[in-house]
Amino acid sequence: MIRQLLDIADLAPDELTTILRLAVTPDLPKPLAGQGVALIFEKPSNRTRHSMEMAVVQLGGHPVYTRGEEVGIDVRESAEDVARVMAGYHAVIAARVFEHSRVQRMAAVSSVPVVNMLSDAAHPLQALADVLTMQQLHGPLAGARVAWVGDYNNVARSLGEACVMLGATIVFGCPSGYAPPTSELARLASLGEGSAHHTSDPREAVAEAIAVHTDCWTSMGQETEHQQRLAAFSGFTVDAALMAAAAPGAGFYHCLPAYRGIEVTAEVIDGAASRVIAQAHNRLHSARGALAFLMGVR
Ligand code: CP
Ligand code: NVA
Repeated sequence: MIRQLLDIADLAPDELTTILRLAVTPDLPKPLAGQGVALIFEKPSNRTRHSMEMAVVQLGGHPVYTRGEEVGIDVRESAEDVARVMAGYHAVIAARVFEHSRVQRMAAVSSVPVVNMLSDAAHPLQALADVLTMQQLHGPLAGARVAWVGDYNNVARSLGEACVMLGATIVFGCPSGYAPPTSELARLASLGEGSAHHTSDPREAVAEAIAVHTDCWTSMGQETEHQQRLAAFSGFTVDAALMAAAAPGAGFYHCLPAYRGIEVTAEVIDGAASRVIAQAHNRLHSARGALAFLMGVR
């Protein structure tokens, strides 16, 4: 069976643990030697492009970056034709897209693994780095409490999957209209030993949390909703007072890019509790672990 990484939930909990182990294993083999990896971006990127390109290089392969408009998925040719053709050139196809269904359609016909490099629904590569960073600082996440404050977006959804699969309790502090529905919390809880909860009170969300995560309030593709979202998320800025309501020594996490003064204050993101640069650097290590796993390294 061809493995895919469209969602963290495409993995079994022990496979997630394997990727996290491979991420920190020195001197991995070079399973991509002499092979290519297609990296298609329909949206801008700093971390994802650079970490994936360098992860491919470190595994002995050759990354081929292409802008979405150049490929023209479903404009110049169908997502299915793009995947079938690129599978003949590359060992892995990775894509950053608007609609999640686009990577699903590519994966359905691809004869090589397809990796989701961010869609409207999920950002699995980010979640790998997020849990890796928390583990490095706090030890195993089983039994730990993790908070998400802000929008229940693609990054939140993937982080929720990873936390539950690793046995953590994740509490989403999101305003009405931007929160995970009860059915979604139940779906998350079904993925592993951990649990997932929602509160509309950010202070309640961060209570006893070892990590406070947030993200921008307006994701790529939602720009027309920006003013409405600024109003909806009023009171959800992660500031020093909110960090003080978390567990002593709690870290602040953000996938970046961040908007200082909006979802987080400069004092927090540039302060001693901030883990965002370690988190960004772990994108390389976790991407390398994920690609090695997809190439069969255990
Ligand atoms: N966090 C993240 O995915 O960043 P980029 O959009 O820069 O890739
Ligand atoms: N939620 C953000 C993440 C950016 C890395 C977005 O989709 O734009």
